[in-house]
Amino acid sequence: MELIFYHPFFNSDRWITGLQTRLPGSQVRVWQPGDDAPADYALVRTPPPEMLRGRQGLKGVFALGAGVDDILDQLRTCPDMLDPAVPLFRLEDTGMSLQMQEYAVQRVLGWFRRFDEYQQLQAQGRWQPLKPHRRESFTVGVLGAGVLGQAVASSLKAWGFPLRLWSRSPREWAGMQTFHGREQLPAFLAGTQVLINLLPATAETEGIINRAMLRQLNPQAYLLNLARGVHVVEADLLAALAAGELQAAALDVFNVEPLPEDHPFWHHPRIAITPHNAAVTLPEEAMAYIARAIGEYEAGKMPAGWVDRQRGY
Ligand code: NAP
Ligand code: GLV
Repeated sequence: MELIFYHPFFNSDRWITGLQTRLPGSQVRVWQPGDDAPADYALVRTPPPEMLRGRQGLKGVFALGAGVDDILDQLRTCPDMLDPAVPLFRLEDTGMSLQMQEYAVQRVLGWFRRFDEYQQLQAQGRWQPLKPHRRESFTVGVLGAGVLGQAVASSLKAWGFPLRLWSRSPREWAGMQTFHGREQLPAFLAGTQVLINLLPATAETEGIINRAMLRQLNPQAYLLNLARGVHVVEADLLAALAAGELQAAALDVFNVEPLPEDHPFWHHPRIAITPHNAAVTLPEEAMAYIARAIGEYEAGKMPAGWVDRQRGY
């Protein structure tokens, strides 16, 4: 079995050794421009189209992340890059749920206990107890009730916050209010104090976090964007903070990455930034999943992580 690998910054030696160990008899090579030899599977992050286009023998493509918006974007501009009959798979969880839970729990508890505001008071040398937030009205709403959204909501359940999830199709989760579709979005937003975004980037979700949406949240709400930068209209976020509609935002992802040096987010006192690493690909977990998935696919089963290209995630 032949595998080709392409990632702009992963340590390819580690992946080649790890995959060959997990898939005995396989040959894994780093794809280089000009390599047009047959391959059974391709493992990729934002691959150059020529890596996949017309590749002889290709049975499946594995994205080396949870989101596949980069590959689907390329397919829109270069539709012949990948035969529709060749399945695309993505990493489902593979250790990302726990990372997202750590991030979200830390942020939500920090806002609930007003630690960010105390940090600013400390910087001003001010001893000033603030009114505590009330747990029963500190409603957390998660956009996206998928693998990561559901995991994040579950981890916040232990802290007793009212929880809501919004998805495309109807879903049920014990102990959480669930909403679906555009019609139920206003009801989901009304009364939400903390909005956490874990949607995939699709044509339907791009720009969804805009002024109109932020205005429907509780006054002085909080925003945590853990999904993709394109979900947020950045100028609207700044305007909502300036107007006091939003209390604070924590952002892991941005319209342009790396965030440009002169971007107003960098020095905004109520915006916290991390460099798109809320949940990173863990090589061992990812390789274990890919090896298992290839085994299943070779045995005629469709593994978890299959991407519906029409739906966009
Ligand atoms: P997932 O399992 O595919 O879940 C996606 C969820 O979004 C589903 O509940 C889906 O609804 C919902 N959804 C999709 N389109 C919608 C729409 N138009 N309206 C309402 N709901 C919609 O994805 P995941 O594994 O949880 O990952 C989510 C995203 O996190 C990824 O796509 C990626 O962009 C991002 N991510 C970021 C990082 C980071 O480090 N910042 C790391 C990993 C992932 P249904 O349940 O009805 O299908
Ligand atoms: C990271 O953002 C991922 O989608 O895995």
